[in-house]
Amino acid sequence: MCGIIGYVGRQDAKEVLISGLKALEYRGYDSSGIAFNVKGKIKIIKKEGKVLNLEKAIDKNDTTFEGIGHTRWATHGIPNEINAHPHHVGNVTIVHNGIIENYIELKNNLKKKYSFQSETDTEVACALIDSLYQENKDKLVALKKTTEIITGSYAFGIIFDDEPDTIYAIRKDSPLVLAEKENNFFIASDIAAILPYTNHYYLLKEGEIAKLNHDGLYFYNNDLSIIKKDENIYEGTLDDVMKNGYDHFMLKEINDETKVYQNIINSYLPNLDITDLEKHFGSFKKYDHITIIGCGSAYHAGLVAKNYFENYANIPTDVELASEYRYKKIFSNRKELVILISQSGETADTLEALRKAKENNMDTLGIINVLSSSIARESDKVIYILAGVEIAVATTKAYLAQVLILSLLALLMSYEKGLTTKEEANKHLKDLKKVIDITKLIVNDNQKYQLIAKKIYNEKDMFFIGRGIDYALCMEASLKMKEISYIHSEAYAAGELKHGTISLIEDNTVVIGIVTDKNIASKTISNLKETKARGSNIILVTTSEIYEEIKTDKFYNEIILIDNVTPLFQSLIITTPLQLLSYYVALYKGENIDQPRNLAKSVTVE
Ligand code: AGP
Repeated sequence: MCGIIGYVGRQDAKEVLISGLKALEYRGYDSSGIAFNVKGKIKIIKKEGKVLNLEKAIDKNDTTFEGIGHTRWATHGIPNEINAHPHHVGNVTIVHNGIIENYIELKNNLKKKYSFQSETDTEVACALIDSLYQENKDKLVALKKTTEIITGSYAFGIIFDDEPDTIYAIRKDSPLVLAEKENNFFIASDIAAILPYTNHYYLLKEGEIAKLNHDGLYFYNNDLSIIKKDENIYEGTLDDVMKNGYDHFMLKEINDETKVYQNIINSYLPNLDITDLEKHFGSFKKYDHITIIGCGSAYHAGLVAKNYFENYANIPTDVELASEYRYKKIFSNRKELVILISQSGETADTLEALRKAKENNMDTLGIINVLSSSIARESDKVIYILAGVEIAVATTKAYLAQVLILSLLALLMSYEKGLTTKEEANKHLKDLKKVIDITKLIVNDNQKYQLIAKKIYNEKDMFFIGRGIDYALCMEASLKMKEISYIHSEAYAAGELKHGTISLIEDNTVVIGIVTDKNIASKTISNLKETKARGSNIILVTTSEIYEEIKTDKFYNEIILIDNVTPLFQSLIITTPLQLLSYYVALYKGENIDQPRNLAKSVTVE
């Protein structure tokens, strides 16, 4: 939700903190702030809005080599300077990512001793740490007690006034990476902020404490004894967090999709042979039912995958919203596989849904992008989607990598169950090359999407309609359009429209029809024509095979034609043009494409 960073080293801490916050800004951009040591005193500067506002407010003459920083996605208290982090109470300064669930109760106890300036849960945690430090006169003891008293999710960066050149850190559920490079020491909410310095990092377990000062980076376990930790290595490069000449990360990440497909082939399908998947994914023979769980686009990837598991592997599959699943009655089934999909691996609802499935003794598989993230670490099994760092809040390459991995999983299960022969499976897999070639053509020839976008970007409403797997594709295409262009867009099961919503169709209402399943194409086309009869402006998205059947019947205003590949992978090349269409609509509207209002890349709160 928010992004935190901390630095102790030989470089100008202000610069390290600001560039780190810029790399973390996609996690939240309501306000930002830094606290740093100037001649033994902690100086705090915080500003509403983007990190740029903060950067302008900093006095370049301040010399400092130690500090902490924060970029906020408001949960408790409106986005303003008072509620912005860092917060300072007593002798403690703090930055925080997460939510303190018992902060009201704590605040009532602490009110006797402290007065509070902000509406935030974080300021309460700051007061608690200060009171425990005064009580115990030992920072490690105070922090250990804090972890025992506070409930909820948190990653804290903490500075004590009497040790201004040292940073302490603790975490629970919220992500935190730590690193050291040539006497420079870092903490950050994710690797993006550290990559300019190193791709080696440590992870802090719940209940552990980290301490950074000029002598080193120290880790303490629950008994407060010093422990050694193994370093992790991030495979990607700095390029992953740079725009590399693209105007927006979203456009760059759409152009990265072919690279991501190649990553997946290189890692999981070196011989483009189904037995490669057996080797890399393992066996899933024992399962007779699947439940897929996710939020937002991850949930939509699950809706697409349901078609593959049911049609190719003949396994009944339910798809659940994580925020609903965590509070619903569970009928546990030992032969059930629960698949958790998450790009960030930190989405709170999906993490709690995972824990609920495990409490009900069900096997869990994480389909995750961010290495060593909470959902990846807590799932019984994890398959990484290898999409690299995704910065734009609106997911593109990661969503498609999720869909590809899930389609490969369905093919493997179909093969294991003898429903698909090795030859048939490898015939499907061979089409991945075509998918890469066609995707390259799509991203290199994006004029046509710009032209269509130019005609519709001023619309107030639009509808995406389709049937079966096309309806699932509509769900994602509509979300993409909504979240970056702020146009009120709805995805609808084409056959459902005439049961009410068609009353919203009037002259020139944009209706985007996705028609890739030739078995039900005529049905969706009839539904599109029903909207035409009410004056709709139809944009048809279909395959060359279906087009051959309908080319004499020009009922649509615009057409996006996509070559055919095996139906198992058709969703991939249908989606990229729709991502580009949303991108250009938002571009012509002049919206902030990478950081849409009110959104954040990883939703670590309920
Ligand atoms: C998608 O563009 C959104 N950013 C959002 O719906 C996202 O898919 C959702 O929050 C789930 O995130 P996750 O994949 O990191 O769990």
